[in-house]
Amino acid sequence: MDAPNLLNPERRMLLKMQQNEQTVWSLDELLVACDWTDQAVAVGAGHGLENRGFVSVEENVTTEIRLDSEGDNALEFGLLEQRLWNWMTAVNEPSMRALQAEFERHEAGPGVGLLKQLGVSIDGGVLVAQDSTHIESVLKQRQDFLNALPCDMNGLDDGLLQHFRQRKGLIASFEQTIRTWSITDLGRSVQDEYLNETVVISELTPELLQTDAWKDAEFRAFDVTLESATPRRGRSHPMQALIERIRSVFLEMGFSELVDDYVQTAGWNMDALFIPQDHPAREMQDTFYLKEPAKMELSEELMGKWKSIHEDGGATGSTGWGGSFSFDTAQRPLLRTHTTVNTIQYLAQHPKEACRVFSVDRVFRKEAIDRTHLPEFHQIEGIIMEEGANLQMLVTTLKTFYAKMGYPEVRVRPAYFPYTEPSLEIEVKWHGKWLELGGAGIFRPEVTEPLGIESPVLAWGMGLERLAMLVLGLDDIRQLYISDLDWLRQQPLL
Ligand code: PHE
Repeated sequence: MDAPNLLNPERRMLLKMQQNEQTVWSLDELLVACDWTDQAVAVGAGHGLENRGFVSVEENVTTEIRLDSEGDNALEFGLLEQRLWNWMTAVNEPSMRALQAEFERHEAGPGVGLLKQLGVSIDGGVLVAQDSTHIESVLKQRQDFLNALPCDMNGLDDGLLQHFRQRKGLIASFEQTIRTWSITDLGRSVQDEYLNETVVISELTPELLQTDAWKDAEFRAFDVTLESATPRRGRSHPMQALIERIRSVFLEMGFSELVDDYVQTAGWNMDALFIPQDHPAREMQDTFYLKEPAKMELSEELMGKWKSIHEDGGATGSTGWGGSFSFDTAQRPLLRTHTTVNTIQYLAQHPKEACRVFSVDRVFRKEAIDRTHLPEFHQIEGIIMEEGANLQMLVTTLKTFYAKMGYPEVRVRPAYFPYTEPSLEIEVKWHGKWLELGGAGIFRPEVTEPLGIESPVLAWGMGLERLAMLVLGLDDIRQLYISDLDWLRQQPLL
């Protein structure tokens, strides 16, 4: 036989087995014989020897039945049917009404069911036992069964086991694998000389090579066919990683980030953006309004400007929406439905300075949850304000952004938003199909003039989750938020 290149624990285990008449070994016997405390060493060595045919391993799965939480209670206070029976035999007239007074509803209902199965009937509202001796003997059998736990499944009465398996929380099964190792003829034939434990070198170090010691050393052979564990480490959630990537792309393009609250007024979320006060998207069914506070004050002066724009266009030359503008409606607090509410306020605070601003933040809409909708999601928002900014620049900026994100094919199509003119829809090509990712446009004078903004403002807002679905190849948006660890571990680094 060629020298079987065995590991030290394998050598020790095989030698001990050879030196003994005994063929079949339990784990405990192996641990004692080999002077090991770690079960994993024995199991590992056994595995190695099995692979070479020197030992054979037998696995036996046993099932132990133990008391579950209700079982513990039953042991302490008695089974429910036992307690009902004790009561029934102790009172004068065991009526249903008396029973309901004595036991709580969650016990009385199922309890009576159990008694009926034992042969108790109800006659004129009173519980009557046909055969008390039989009932008491069944009750005793059940109690004895529970008293005997924990116990191997094979040592238990089948009928009672079935019975208790059907009842909730009384018993639980635990599977255990018991292994035994047997030395084979081939294992017996391995010569002693191969079974001396030696220092086996598994790593070549410079120190080792500097002396001659390596010449006599024994080297551990690598088994490249073995399975190995995949190393795992902490990492960002793919959504967070994507947000970071988007940030760095915008920062690279000269934008600064805007972070702002998501509790806002309808005034900034909608009126400032020339969304008419009777627009359907403002309804309760689509927007989350806050109960508390019921109102968030806005300045009369500001609301006055919106009022005149909305009612007749003010000085913009627009005709406005007509109707009468309500200050109460404007002061209603809500959870922002888009991040445009923040960029418009940024512009109101800095109406004259050219800027490039972006945000990646959370928005809320009353959507039923399904494969493509969540009531809480994120938008990628951005604006460019500067003299001479135009549609061409807007389209180029969006194309550049998506190209940097890895989607070179982008197209825009005409769209409508109350606050932009012209308005665009942005689509990217993915697996041969065009997917809509967001909207964009140039703010209308009805939006910019009341705030004192003079240069053109290019604006866009796009769905982050939609993009995430593309990047991660998902067909269900919910996958992003269910913390499925297996899935999370398999996600690429973004
Ligand atoms: N706010 C729009 C939305 O939520 C997107 C958008 C932003 C459109 C800016 C035009 C300009 O879909």
